[in-house]
Amino acid sequence: MKTIIFLHSTTGNTRVVTRFAAAQLKQLGHDCSIVDITHHPEPPNLEDVDLIGLACPSMYWRPTVVMEQFIDRLPVTTGGPRPAFLLATASGDPGSHFAIAAEHLAPKGWVTLRAYFVPMVNNWPSHRALSEWIPFAGPLAEKITEARPYLRSSLGWLWPDVGEPLLRHRDGLMAFMKDVARRAEARDFSAAKAPADLWRGSRWMAAVGRRMTPKQMRSATNIQVDASRCTRCGTCVRVCPVGCMTRTREDEVPQVGAGCTGCWACFNHCADGALSGMGAPHGAGRYAGPSPQSRILFRPK
Ligand SMILES: Cc1cc2nc3c(=O)[nH]c(=O)nc-3n(C[C@H](O)[C@H](O)[C@H](O)COP(=O)(O)O)c2cc1C
Repeated sequence: MKTIIFLHSTTGNTRVVTRFAAAQLKQLGHDCSIVDITHHPEPPNLEDVDLIGLACPSMYWRPTVVMEQFIDRLPVTTGGPRPAFLLATASGDPGSHFAIAAEHLAPKGWVTLRAYFVPMVNNWPSHRALSEWIPFAGPLAEKITEARPYLRSSLGWLWPDVGEPLLRHRDGLMAFMKDVARRAEARDFSAAKAPADLWRGSRWMAAVGRRMTPKQMRSATNIQVDASRCTRCGTCVRVCPVGCMTRTREDEVPQVGAGCTGCWACFNHCADGALSGMGAPHGAGRYAGPSPQSRILFRPK
């Protein structure tokens, strides 16, 4: 089977998980490739593709704007419905992520068979910076999870860095990939769930995700560049998935233009603390990417 997984990852969590998922499909005999939609925003020809996967972080309890826009650019399939699966990483709850993605896929002829979410460390700087300000949160979460390691992923809200994925999340992903492959090979759409049933988490978060608008996401981020700290390295310009960090010359301080989707990629990749955002001044709460433990856990075999 020819399979493509379309990936959007801002700081690497979803990339680590997606590589593992792709390796599983290869072991199951699929000709599977990953296409990073940050660098390849236009969908390729999908005529001979049997199965697609869409992998991205949950942001504001929905799929990333970049992924949503990518789905909307997909051509309508010919020759009947074809199978798709969804993969998310999130720190706690994907909210309406899967429902919204499946609803956008359906008119394009792709039937979402199943969806899976892997909990990973929270890369949302506003949340991370807030936790740094609560003096007892970190030590308390560390103490609890030392005694009860299985609570790691659920205590990520208290101290983001304890929210590491566990062996059972990797095993769950392996079982998920097997099931998706089996159903896709059999073109078995009978057990495909309705979008709203793909994930049942907090109703409140799902409702918030439904209501988030691009304007709200932009104002919940509000990236500012501090010229005195900026080394003009251009990293923020390179990592912005929508090209809204711009400069006309190499030695210029980048400007934040229109169209920011609030993903914080620029902020998280700025090693100089030159960017500030809502609740996160000068790089406070910056997430530097997946830990060695999670990379080892999801190392493709
Ligand atoms: C702006 C923003 C919004 C986020 N919203 C959610 C959310 O709604 N639910 C959740 O569980 N995690 C949320 N997160 C955490 C990310 O989904 C999580 O850290 C993810 O693994 C990051 O993946 P990436 O490194 O591939 O971009 C959010 C992170 C950011 C930066």
